[in-house]
Amino acid sequence: MEKIKSMPDLDDLLAGRRSIRRYTTASPPEACLESMVQAAIWAPSPRNSQPVRFIRIESPKIRKRLQEAMLSGRERLLSKAVTCNHPKRLRNWINAYWRYSEFIFRAPVLFAVGTITPEGSLSSHLFQAGIIARDKRDDTDLDISIGLALQGFLLKGREFGLGTCVLTAPFDFIEDVGSIFGAKEIVIKCFVTVGFPDESPVGPERMPVTDIYRMI
Ligand SMILES: Cc1cc2nc3c(=O)[nH]c(=O)nc-3n(C[C@H](O)[C@H](O)[C@H](O)COP(=O)(O)O)c2cc1C
Repeated sequence: MEKIKSMPDLDDLLAGRRSIRRYTTASPPEACLESMVQAAIWAPSPRNSQPVRFIRIESPKIRKRLQEAMLSGRERLLSKAVTCNHPKRLRNWINAYWRYSEFIFRAPVLFAVGTITPEGSLSSHLFQAGIIARDKRDDTDLDISIGLALQGFLLKGREFGLGTCVLTAPFDFIEDVGSIFGAKEIVIKCFVTVGFPDESPVGPERMPVTDIYRMI
């Protein structure tokens, strides 16, 4: 099939996207960020419930609170690590994950991404009626929805030449993320950084299709 040369095709976008952890100081254009959120909106979701929410963290007060929470979490973990069986090994792990977390404060744009809990699934009705012990579909539905929404967001960013990184490691350090944002109805599931890349990391190797695909 003939390709239009100037447009990256989906394979190029997918294979060429990298997690970017170092950014130039340039701010991503507002219109690009909005298009990225728009791309997330096209993702499928159960009953089209669209439970994913993007919170852009611009407030210096909230950024400071987040930074303080992470720093004190790191101190807490490091001091507890001293009392463990392999304190040095654990300290190295904590420091490594710290490096994979703290760059969020140097990214030009930082999002906290979360989900609301939509009402109306059969599972939630059955749970409320006392027919099942727990709404076992809830978390799965929300996690799948956020993953699909993020994929659109990341790939749209890549189309604009913007780098992104999804992060969950900061949660290892922050004790109560909900209290920092004060958005009670949104459960924060990850952070995402956005900016123009100041690094060109080599893509970590992927498994061959045969390793993850089988017929039974
Ligand atoms: C759910 C999730 C959580 C992640 N958490 C972090 C993180 O906390 N810090 C980080 O630097 N990268 C994080 N990453 C990025 C992965 O390390 C990265 O996607 C992986 O190594 C593959 O590299 P690539 O994205 O460049 O292809 C996360 C990715 C996902 C999907």
